[in-house]
Amino acid sequence: MSRTGNRRRGRPPAFSYRETWKGLLRRQSTGLALCCDQFLLELLAKRFGTPLYVYSASTIRSRMIAFDRAFRKIPHTICYSVKANSNLSILRLLANMGCGFDVVSGGELERVLRTDRRLAKNTVFSGVGKTADEMQAALRAGILLFNVESESELSALAECAERSKQTARVALRVNPDVPANTHPYISTGMQRHKFGIPISEARTLYARGFGPRYLKISGVSVHIGSQIIDVKPFAAAMERVTELVRELRADGHKIDYVDAGGGLGIAYEERDVSKFSEHLAGYAEALLRPLRGLKVHLLLEPGRFIVGPAGALLTRVLYRKANGGSRFVVVDAAMNDLVRPSLYRAYHEIVPVRLASPAGTQIVDVVGPVCETGDFFAHDRELPLLQEGDLLALLDVGAYGMALASNYNTRLRPAEVLVDGKSVKVIRRRETMEDVLRPEARF
Ligand code: LLP
Repeated sequence: MSRTGNRRRGRPPAFSYRETWKGLLRRQSTGLALCCDQFLLELLAKRFGTPLYVYSASTIRSRMIAFDRAFRKIPHTICYSVKANSNLSILRLLANMGCGFDVVSGGELERVLRTDRRLAKNTVFSGVGKTADEMQAALRAGILLFNVESESELSALAECAERSKQTARVALRVNPDVPANTHPYISTGMQRHKFGIPISEARTLYARGFGPRYLKISGVSVHIGSQIIDVKPFAAAMERVTELVRELRADGHKIDYVDAGGGLGIAYEERDVSKFSEHLAGYAEALLRPLRGLKVHLLLEPGRFIVGPAGALLTRVLYRKANGGSRFVVVDAAMNDLVRPSLYRAYHEIVPVRLASPAGTQIVDVVGPVCETGDFFAHDRELPLLQEGDLLALLDVGAYGMALASNYNTRLRPAEVLVDGKSVKVIRRRETMEDVLRPEARF
């Protein structure tokens, strides 16, 4: 990060350095300190403890607005993918902006309904393993669309809908057999993946959807994976979907919706992100060009793009140590708080909350206290010389950070705070030992 902290030109820098002062009339500079909007992160860490997730509401809003604008040429609904960050206050913030939601479980549906029951009408339900109970709950709530992923699921949904005498609007999630250049665990659009139905078999299955009285075939959906930077696979998938929509309409189906899924990646490593607007425009063009003239309502399910860069994880250096030739910085956050580096070898930028000067550097491994070698945030990373007690911020953790946190090693999950203009709110308090132990029997 540059000393001005303004490396994220082209998109709002949620976290940037600001000069701090002391003395009467702010005479003496005390150096550069990292802020979330107006708030000094070191003060937030002092007040709320570490590890601490900090989110910028203004960044979430402006990313949402930019995303929405990119699709202004076509009728569309943004169905934010709840799995990326499912905190109720984040959902509320997005709902207040007119956002719909993409859920993949009864639990996520419940979060949306508790935010506001009326949001159901803009909610889509995705996922390969919906249970009958989850389908019933979604039918009762009156969701917009079920993204059905197999023939068996279609029958199960038909039964549920029949039983409750409630019509289920259905899109089949097709698997377009398009490779997306991303981590294998989060690539989903190839035939060997568990997701969707092969696009070649879609027409046959759509024909079955005609039968059941309480199923209403309404759309086609696709999602080829996550953290996809190259927009070409999105275009390839959408071309196949468009072709299918034409065939289905010729077969007599009324296809009102195309659900393009999520997956647009963010620049975790790229320092110059002035290409932000270009990238977003390229993505929109990749989806919109094939859809031209098709007259559909487009559904979009972004998750990471909206919330990823809006979050940082604050952690304090506990110890420095050297084993053989390796130098370690042991911090108080661990893989249970942020698993992405361990699980996907994901890169997250790590920056000191206060920039010391003169700034020497050192190559270190940043690791947590969990008892696994896999518990790391960075290997061989060049960082400024750090002292025990220093604060670090892991950046771009607003998506799939807290959402994937666990209690492994009986560690308490971090608190989350939301910075919104002049206010900072705790949107999830730090867990207590009682929270964690309560569900367990004590024989
Ligand atoms: N729609 C569907 C059907 C999905 O499966 C997903 C993500 C999304 C939308 C949102 O994708 P996004 O816009 O956030 O890329 N834990 C992994 C990511 C898993 C993504 C799963 N599905 C990670 O930390 O990278």
